[in-house]
Amino acid sequence: MSKLIYILNGPNLTLLGKRQPHIYGSETLADVEHKCRTVGEEFGLAVKLLQSNHEGQIIDWIHDARKEAAGIIINPAALTHTSVAVLDALNAFDGPVFEVHISQVHKRESFRHHSYVSLRADGVMAGFGIEGYALAMRRMGSLLG
Ligand code: DQA
Repeated sequence: MSKLIYILNGPNLTLLGKRQPHIYGSETLADVEHKCRTVGEEFGLAVKLLQSNHEGQIIDWIHDARKEAAGIIINPAALTHTSVAVLDALNAFDGPVFEVHISQVHKRESFRHHSYVSLRADGVMAGFGIEGYALAMRRMGSLLG
């Protein structure tokens, strides 16, 4: 059976493709899923892409990942900069965790420069557009595939 990678997306990423396209581009979460699935097939990895606007839901999914996922790719969106609870949940997950930001957060407002999730992440992609998810998948592939 293929190993499963969770691809978790935080608040407002439902609007990806419509929201501030000059920052986040015009591709959607469906495009992210398609790209990740394609890379996953190369390495024998399955993907489950999830999005929520609710912190507790993201935490519950991280708990689910403990039971069924080999790795987590997470774009926590604004929760990156605020959520100790998401960090704590990720600290309870044993596999590789990669943090992805579509935009180059370090070029933006200073409140986006700090990430709680980076204290746990094994790798961080920022500013590669949605390609960042595919690159993170590739790294999952070389670690787990
Ligand atoms: C983001 C960057 C965050 O600062 C922001 O709150 C988001 C998206 C990104 O993908 O570039 O919602 O995580």
